[in-house]
Amino acid sequence: MASAKLKYLSLGILVFQTTSLVLTMRYSRTLQGDGLRYLASSAVVVAEFLKILTCLGLVFKDHSYSGRALSSILRQEILHKPIDTLKLAIPSGIYTLQNNLLYVALSNLDAATYQVTYQLKILTTALFSVSMLGRRLGVYQWLSLLILMAGIALVQWPADSPSDPQKEQLTAGSQFVGLGAVLVACCSSGFAGVYFEKILKETKQSVWVRNIQLGMFGLFFGIFGMLAYDGDRVQEHGMFQGYNTLTWIVSVLIIALGGLVIAAVIKYADNILKGFATSLSIILSTFISYFWLEDFKPTSMFFLGTVLVIMATFLYGYESKPAPNPSRA
Ligand code: C5P
Repeated sequence: MASAKLKYLSLGILVFQTTSLVLTMRYSRTLQGDGLRYLASSAVVVAEFLKILTCLGLVFKDHSYSGRALSSILRQEILHKPIDTLKLAIPSGIYTLQNNLLYVALSNLDAATYQVTYQLKILTTALFSVSMLGRRLGVYQWLSLLILMAGIALVQWPADSPSDPQKEQLTAGSQFVGLGAVLVACCSSGFAGVYFEKILKETKQSVWVRNIQLGMFGLFFGIFGMLAYDGDRVQEHGMFQGYNTLTWIVSVLIIALGGLVIAAVIKYADNILKGFATSLSIILSTFISYFWLEDFKPTSMFFLGTVLVIMATFLYGYESKPAPNPSRA
């Protein structure tokens, strides 16, 4: 069936995208260039802009490359339906808030605690899928989600970190702020993803038009954020200061591609399967990083976590026919 094909294709591309993102980010860390650093807030704006441009191209293609059809769709679906368009401001605003919360979390927690705690989003996503979409999960599926969460937490557990100077500086107060931020981000990640899924699956409009609506708000919030955080620096050295080829590849192309793939995964598969795909790609990138970049030595915790994640993936599919799912058309 075409939709089953699209489901596995979108999940496969997500694994590829997440893996290449993690690998290029690791690689870029080893290249410490001189001069100005690029502004993360500017990369967000460029990525949103590229996403909108790509989605416009996809809608254009879906309408037999007719400029007239494209402009009529945009008018009908975006301009003439302001309420429907405004609905997308909710996930967009939440994602913007989430990206900032994760930044607060990373500045107040060590990277390992951050990554491990953020995996709780697997469970919040399942809870929102059940409460907002009426999805039903069997006992094996709940169990597999718990195992997945535990497994990916072990995979990301730090290998011996004897005396991490950064860790010593973190006071109990900042740990508390960091943990609070990451827990709120877990809730917002689950909610925004499922809210977007609800809009996609309950209305007929194409995923790319929805993504343009989402991106418009993303671009607006992004520009606002860039001017608020980095306004002075942008005025002084411009918005593209410190960009190099790697910045374009990592922060812009891969992140923009990520947004598009996530939208496709939410449309053709669902948010829970997205959690499995990203977990598997974290393992894949770590193995590649071990063999290729040689910057990581797997520990026994890592192997145990890998086994748990793979077990959870099979267990989730084991009870493959849960009660009929009302949200899937
Ligand atoms: O951590 P989480 O899975 O919630 O992150 C989802 C990311 O995907 C967010 O950064 C969000 O901006 C992005 N996204 C997107 N386009 C969508 C849905 C999500 O760019 N349609």
